[in-house]
Amino acid sequence: MVLSATELTNLPQLLPPRGMELVACGSCLPQSVVSNALLSSRVDTNDDWIRDRTGIGSRRIASEADSLTSLASDAAQAALDLAGWRAEDLDLILLATSSPDDLFGTAPRIQAVLGADRAVAFDLTAACSGFLFALITAAQFIRGGSMDKVLVIGADLLSRWVDWDDRRTCVLFGDGAGAVALQACPAEQDGLVAFRMRSDGQRNSCLTLARSGARLPLVGDLSREVGGFGTIAMNGQEVYKFAVREVPLVLADLLEQAGLGAEQLDWLLLHQANQRILDAVADRFAVPRERVLTNLAAYGNTSAATIPLMLDEAVRDGRIRPGHLIASSGFGAGLSWGGALLRWSGPPP
Ligand code: ACO
Repeated sequence: MVLSATELTNLPQLLPPRGMELVACGSCLPQSVVSNALLSSRVDTNDDWIRDRTGIGSRRIASEADSLTSLASDAAQAALDLAGWRAEDLDLILLATSSPDDLFGTAPRIQAVLGADRAVAFDLTAACSGFLFALITAAQFIRGGSMDKVLVIGADLLSRWVDWDDRRTCVLFGDGAGAVALQACPAEQDGLVAFRMRSDGQRNSCLTLARSGARLPLVGDLSREVGGFGTIAMNGQEVYKFAVREVPLVLADLLEQAGLGAEQLDWLLLHQANQRILDAVADRFAVPRERVLTNLAAYGNTSAATIPLMLDEAVRDGRIRPGHLIASSGFGAGLSWGGALLRWSGPPP
């Protein structure tokens, strides 16, 4: 079919409006548990301090047998199984991570493990905001009509990048992976009710995992850099202040976009960074504690994985049910932050 110039101009109106629905999820955690007590045998810290300041009791740490590819692939396969999809049905695999197995991209390795031959697979990096940014990005491909079935994965092994002698940061982080399956649906069923994405590079130095190196001669006047990435460096108090200021603002913005009140939310599903941040945001919106999802005590901050890990746990234990409205927000390095109001559809019956 050849379209006229007028038809091409009017194409958006000719295409039926589409939405995306969240149909399934999956997750995978390393087996090894490192309790606060065990960590205290390495750095000068203790269970009381960590629980009191963060809510964290233990974290999972990847073993030699684990890789970002293996954990993310297992999470992705669990989401495929719950959705009842075959890997070859997928159009896109979008991996949010800041700790790839390969700096050129780890998503294609996951594509190969799954056997998703028809899909395109690539990485997206936005630290702890990465999963939500990837979900929102994937939704645009689906809404635009170019893709029907997508897997979004959030996975990080920050144990690779933590300074295990720095008690101010090492107690916070853990490893894990989570995934969601998204599919096209009629616009009136759209599961992405509202969203917002923000970043502020002026505050980049608050939380970094920076590369540094020395110059060595190459040829003629040219030199080359040799070096590598260091370890996570964080101004904890600044990051805390940033989170408790920006997350409520972004959530208020989402509720206003959707014309909804906080009392209409079924769940608050925030990036699991610190229980005190979760409590402060919940109090701001008068969301009762029983509607605030948290698994920080068991897993700590797994960066891009926290939101899909928590989602998967709450879907599988029956707390999140089809039709539930979830307010979610991711925040972290960049600095970056964002939010989404999500309607959970669940797998087809
Ligand atoms: N164990 C025991 N004592 C500790 C520890 C520890 N693990 N860490 C710090 N302390 C001590 C400090 O040395 C300091 O002692 P001093 O007063 O004698 O110098 C004291 O505790 C207070 O230190 P602060 O750094 O001021 O502690 P604070 O109350 O700010 O808590 C924390 C630190 C938990 C990191 C907090 O600032 C925070 O949660 N910030 C947000 C961090 C965050 O969420 N980052 C991740 C988000 S982005 C992402 O997910 C990548």
